[in-house]
Amino acid sequence: MKRLLQILTILVVVAALASPVVAASSRKGKKVFKKSCKTCHTRRGEGGKLSPLQKTMAQWRIYFKRDQHADKSEVWQGDKSEVWQGMSEKQQKDLLKFFLDFALDADQPETCG
Ligand code: HEC
Repeated sequence: MKRLLQILTILVVVAALASPVVAASSRKGKKVFKKSCKTCHTRRGEGGKLSPLQKTMAQWRIYFKRDQHADKSEVWQGDKSEVWQGMSEKQQKDLLKFFLDFALDADQPETCG
């Protein structure tokens, strides 16, 4: 029993130490959004205004998984547009986190300027 507790304690500590490193960051995601998306997604830009509030968390998950500008206009070729291919996996995760944290049905929806 004591041994089991020890193992559990170690697991909890390891998880706590490891998580900040792997966890996606909404704050960083916002930066990615400004840098990679806002070039086109402004009110007058070619992509139109874009905010996490426009979709629910489930809809964003779907969009990030497969849509991502695929085949919607002649600008985008193939399954994923260049916009996404230019991002690291971490940046994409941060970006998704940002959209989920402020989605329509999130705890604290927010417009992002
Ligand atoms: C090169 C310009 C450009 C960039 C950069 C860009 N977009 Fe877009 N985006 C567009 C255009 C144009 C459309 C409209 C496509 C269409 O419907 O034909 C669009 C559409 C979208 C839509 C669909 C909107 C809806 O109502 O369903 C989403 C979501 C989206 N973009 C997200 C993003 C995200 C997230 C990024 C940053 C990673 C991004 N876009 C970067 C041009 C861009």
